[in-house]
Amino acid sequence: MKERSDKKFTGSTWIALNDVLSEQYQDSKPKKGWGNNGGWDRYSEIETKEGLPVFRTRFGAKENPAVKCTIHATALGNFELFFNGKRVGKKRGNSVAYDELKPGWTDYNKRVLYYSYNLTPFLNAEGKNCLVVPLSGGWYQGRIAFNTYGTHKLAFNAVIDVEYADGKKETIKTGPDWDAKIAGPILAAEIWDGEVYDATRTTFEELSEPERRTAGWTKAAVFEDFNGVITRNVAPPVRVRRINMKPVTLTRYSEIEEAEGTDFGRIVVKEVVKKPKAVVLKKGETFIYDMGQNMVGWVNFTVSGKKGTAITSRYAEMLNDSGRKDRGNDGPEGSLYTANYRSAKARGKYILRGAGDESYHPMFTFYGFRYIELTADGDVEIKALKADVVGSDTPETGKLETSSKDLNKLISNILWGQRGNYLSVPTDCPQRDERLGWTGDTEIFCCTAAYNAYVLDFFRKWIRDAADSQSEAGAFPDVVPRMCIVGEGNAAWADAPIIAAYTMYRMYGDVKIVRDTYPSLVKYMDYLSQFGMNGPHPAYGDWLAYEPTDNRFICVCYYAYDALLMEKLSLILGKTRKARSYRNLYEKIRRYFRRTYMKRGRLIQTSQTAYLLSLKFGLLPDTFAEEAKAILAKKIRDNGYRLSTGFLGTGILNITLSEFGMDGLAYSLLLQTGNPSWLYSVYQGATTIWERWNSYTLDKGFGDVGMNSFNHYAYGAVQEWMYKYMLGIDNDETDPGFRHIILRPTPDTRTPDEMPEGQETVKWVRGSYKSVSGEISASWSMEEDFFNYEVSVPAGTYATLYLPVFDENVKTVNINGVVSPLSDYARKDGRVVIDLAPGKYCFEMMR
Ligand code: BGC
Repeated sequence: MKERSDKKFTGSTWIALNDVLSEQYQDSKPKKGWGNNGGWDRYSEIETKEGLPVFRTRFGAKENPAVKCTIHATALGNFELFFNGKRVGKKRGNSVAYDELKPGWTDYNKRVLYYSYNLTPFLNAEGKNCLVVPLSGGWYQGRIAFNTYGTHKLAFNAVIDVEYADGKKETIKTGPDWDAKIAGPILAAEIWDGEVYDATRTTFEELSEPERRTAGWTKAAVFEDFNGVITRNVAPPVRVRRINMKPVTLTRYSEIEEAEGTDFGRIVVKEVVKKPKAVVLKKGETFIYDMGQNMVGWVNFTVSGKKGTAITSRYAEMLNDSGRKDRGNDGPEGSLYTANYRSAKARGKYILRGAGDESYHPMFTFYGFRYIELTADGDVEIKALKADVVGSDTPETGKLETSSKDLNKLISNILWGQRGNYLSVPTDCPQRDERLGWTGDTEIFCCTAAYNAYVLDFFRKWIRDAADSQSEAGAFPDVVPRMCIVGEGNAAWADAPIIAAYTMYRMYGDVKIVRDTYPSLVKYMDYLSQFGMNGPHPAYGDWLAYEPTDNRFICVCYYAYDALLMEKLSLILGKTRKARSYRNLYEKIRRYFRRTYMKRGRLIQTSQTAYLLSLKFGLLPDTFAEEAKAILAKKIRDNGYRLSTGFLGTGILNITLSEFGMDGLAYSLLLQTGNPSWLYSVYQGATTIWERWNSYTLDKGFGDVGMNSFNHYAYGAVQEWMYKYMLGIDNDETDPGFRHIILRPTPDTRTPDEMPEGQETVKWVRGSYKSVSGEISASWSMEEDFFNYEVSVPAGTYATLYLPVFDENVKTVNINGVVSPLSDYARKDGRVVIDLAPGKYCFEMMR
């Protein structure tokens, strides 16, 4: 059955600029492709233009004032609401929270989301009300859209329910009676390129003052080209997160000097100010603020200066380290390195109003950066400056800390990657001319994400986006929401909706997400069935791996995994016949796999990733599984305790090692500091996870600029292992959502001959997870003679603890001060199995 728009929007009309205004509005011209020259250069043109498309409606009169008012609104493009002189937000404690970059990114060919706001607190006591709505291209029409949605105009749709003092009710809908104008202070706004704000112009707040004069408005035109549905937003809105980001240092310079051995010279540092407060930025000078953290959001400053003075901001993830081309530098030592943004201009311009202190942050763009550069064409005083962290407002649920400060840095880097890349959709990176919903990255990281934050509703939206983006034939695209520039049906990327649905079910016990998405998953499996045992298409392979794995091999493995998960998802919905057919399919693929990829009882693909995939997805015969483990272990050891895996292998690396009893190796890889390893980037100065293990090295400088993001979370998927094994908080797929908690603390028991030289073992770990069934906290420590383990099991749940045994001569465990014989308990995989009711427990055991 064809889905319909929400009832509220029945009979509502989209509005757009009329033909005359459309002609004036520069951004309505189609833009195509990566690296086109339509970016920043266009801005200088636009600055002489009139701003953004703005729509307006007014209602009410003094005699009979409105007493209640609600708006439901959406747009093709990003929109903001200004009502009676104020930006519309929601009260959050003592402050107001604004939903940024709404309505967010969906497959606009199929769906757009509406947001609802209570306007009652904003109603004008005098009776006259004015709503003003600016639109920007956003994901719909900006360069990031790659023209996927055609050359459509930006459009707006709203339904306003009003109740007047005399009890009369009215529903106001968008239509050709609304006013339209190109207006406001924002001259240009682009997700990749940035925003230009001219504060000398009438602000949106001013435009929405009810008593304001009305010159220059014409009428909106009806827009009829939207063929999708309008449905309520189910995802957490994009917000400025409550994380205070003040600059760590400010570097001031105005000259670049030539320096021997450099190609670009170096900046002449005049001053470095720690924790800068108010400072004067002089014409000709450059300020570089270091936020100390790679992040996503924008600058937020308060300044004062002469009217018309322009402050230009540029952003960067890194600084040039030497001014040398052979180290990949793109400018003088100490200056911003922006080559890896590719064609994304990532700039901002603010033109001062010149009336005392004025504050600004962008509204219709975002940046991925650690450094902010400011220059100005006249002297200005920067009274205050911070960075706003912007992203989907997913409450954070996980905490993890260890005795290793390197690991703690890695954990922080992973979380920051998630904060920055979960912005309306899960993206690959948040900074360059990409920022797309690459599904491979999503699939690899989603379980870690669900530990770090409550992402169920974020994925509820995304998984529907995936279904919207599915081809007629059933293929999921490489990027969700679908973009016209990418492919579809590709192994490990197109499989993401199946993996994400199963992961969300396990982490949150939510059957609805499975039920809602199941038909599209079945359709995908039907699509794959036409390719025999080949599975999805080969495209990206084990992306960015140090050691190749046959592309088709990966497809077959993922096909088997799909079938395996589809069996589980079918059972969740009670579809036993379907489940059986997927089980049969899985077994068929497995037989094919063995025929094709095993010779004389051994695997013919020999990369780490090949072993990992075939072990993890249960593809090897029992007769070879033990040997396969041994071979994989040897391969890792022979490689100097280093991984050689790309996106896919790394995503399951440590989990698979532990599932097959190789915890020690998992620790050795985790604590490895050489290239490639997770800690390697930490040692090169990373504050987020990088796209490549060697995106930057102190030794050689910057990696391949063609694709070099310093905020790419995929490799951060190792945190799933840290939660499930190291800390040991996992769930049971037969009673998901942490109703039945699996506790599996996995201390680091390596002896010096079992680990790389120079590594130290992890001495203690503590952490917690706010599951949907309650907060679970756990900690362990390895003392000289004792192993201590503390855990709290929340009310309404039950847990099974798999307690490690260190020495078979130890016969007892002390539980909450009571000595209890280990022989009382069952054993599994060498661990003691103890059932725990809700409560707090303290275990002490000799080792
Ligand atoms: C992205 C990756 C993505 C890949 C597809 C890249 O440009 O940044 O993270 O998964 O393309 O191979």
